[in-house]
Parts: sequence; structure tokens; C-alpha cells
Amino acid sequence: MADHVRSASRPDFRTKPSLRGEQVLLRPVTADDVPALMPMFLDEEASRLTGSHHDGAPDEGRIRAWYGSRQEQDDRLDLAVIEHGSGNVIGEAVLNEWDPDNESCSFRICLVPGTYGTGLGTEATRLIIGYGFEELRLHRISLEVYAFNPRARRAYEKVGFVAEGVLRDALLWDGRRVDTTVMSILAPEWFQHRGRPRISGHTSA
Ligand SMILES: CC(C)(COP(=O)(O)OP(=O)(O)OC[C@H]1O[C@@H](n2cnc3c(N)ncnc32)[C@H](O)[C@@H]1OP(=O)(O)O)[C@@H](O)C(=O)NCCC(=O)NCCS
Repeated sequence: MADHVRSASRPDFRTKPSLRGEQVLLRPVTADDVPALMPMFLDEEASRLTGSHHDGAPDEGRIRAWYGSRQEQDDRLDLAVIEHGSGNVIGEAVLNEWDPDNESCSFRICLVPGTYGTGLGTEATRLIIGYGFEELRLHRISLEVYAFNPRARRAYEKVGFVAEGVLRDALLWDGRRVDTTVMSILAPEWFQHRGRPRISGHTSA
């Protein structure tokens, strides 16, 4: 019975939505987006900020295969971020690591170099997290952010992510060990502020 009740309200990850904001559109990512997304894989700083260790040059063929298969996934949501002004694909926003028993997911986002710091990442985050709570009916969405990435942490805080703990020395990058902070939002928090919490140094942008 409990299983029946739970399956009736299972999140529908097969439906891949388009989500429109003021500055960005999120829509299902495809292999055709790879040329625009490649700078994320080629840029050293983007690799560091996301903690992506590479052995050698990224393999564009494998990357195309990955993005070409995202629409078939029934346990995660991979959306491209499109800037309205230019029409350019400027990054990706993802809900992954779905845990159906606990109604939770992880979140990750990466924009291409040159687009940081103009509010686009905050809006993209707000759009996909809102979808996670309001349409997928998740209870918890979490992420990890490295200590050397205060810009990302700030963007997450602006949407309502709350720091809940530190994984010490979780990353080894260029010979240095770096802490990562675990952050999360819970559904009751989202429905209170809908991605616009009252936090210091910030109103609602
Ligand atoms: C993380 C990311 C998605 C954020 O998106 P964004 O569009 O750059 O961020 P926004 O412009 O919306 O917001 C950034 C906020 O951080 C602030 N900020 C920027 N640099 C900062 C710093 N060094 N210290 C503290 N705050 C900083 C900005 O002032 C802004 O806050 P404000 O609106 O209150 O002024 C984007 O920067 C990105 O993709 N970076 C590369 C990959 C990455 O770091 N991914 C996340 C891994 S956890």
C-alpha cells in the first residue's frame, strides 16, 4: 500500500520541460549544444571550479554521446541554459542523483567562461530548483561547493540554499586540499520564499 501511494506521486523525470525566466531559457540539452558547451570542458578554471579532474584533452565524441543521450534519461534532468539576449547556449543546469526513497536530488550548474557574474546563473538555478520542488515534488535538493568558489556559493545562497556542513579536504587540486561545503534547500523552505529568501547583502534579484 505504501509503495502504491509512493509510486502514484513519483517525480516524472521523463518529461523534459522548457523553463523561461527574464534573462534565460532552460530547455532540454542535446548533442547539438556541444560546440557551445565545449569551453566548459576546455577551460582550466572551469575545471577547477567544478573539481573536474581530466586525463588529457576532453574527448568531444564522448561528450556528444553523453549530451545526445540526456533526453532518454528517466532519473535525471539535464537542461541547457540559453541567454535570451544573444540566443547563445551558455551552460547547463542539472538535477541528478535522484533518490526516490528519500525524495531527494543533487543539483549542479556550470556556465561557459565569459558569462559569469551577470545574474544568469542565479536565475537558471532558481528556475530548475523551482521545477524540482513545484513539479517534481522533491523534498530536498543538495549540492557541494568548494571553499575557493565564493561566487557560486553566493549564487546558491541567493536562491535559498543553506550551508549544512563541510567535507574537509574533499578535493585535491594542484597539490592542495580543499574543503567542500554541502548546501541544501528543503521543500517547505522553497514554498516559503520561492527562491527569493531574505539574506544579508541581498534583496530579491
Ligand atoms: C556558479 C555560477 C553558476 C554562478 O552563476 P553567475 O551568473 O556567475 O552568478 P550570479 O552573477 O548570478 O551571482 C554571483 C554572486 O556572487 C557574487 N560574487 C562574485 N564573486 C564573488 C566573490 N569572489 N566573493 C563573494 N561573492 C562573489 C556576485 O556579486 C553575485 O552576488 P550579488 O548578486 O549579491 O552581487 C557561474 O559563475 C559558473 O558557472 N561558474 C563556473 C562553474 C562553477 O563554479 N560551477 C559551480 C560549481 S559548485
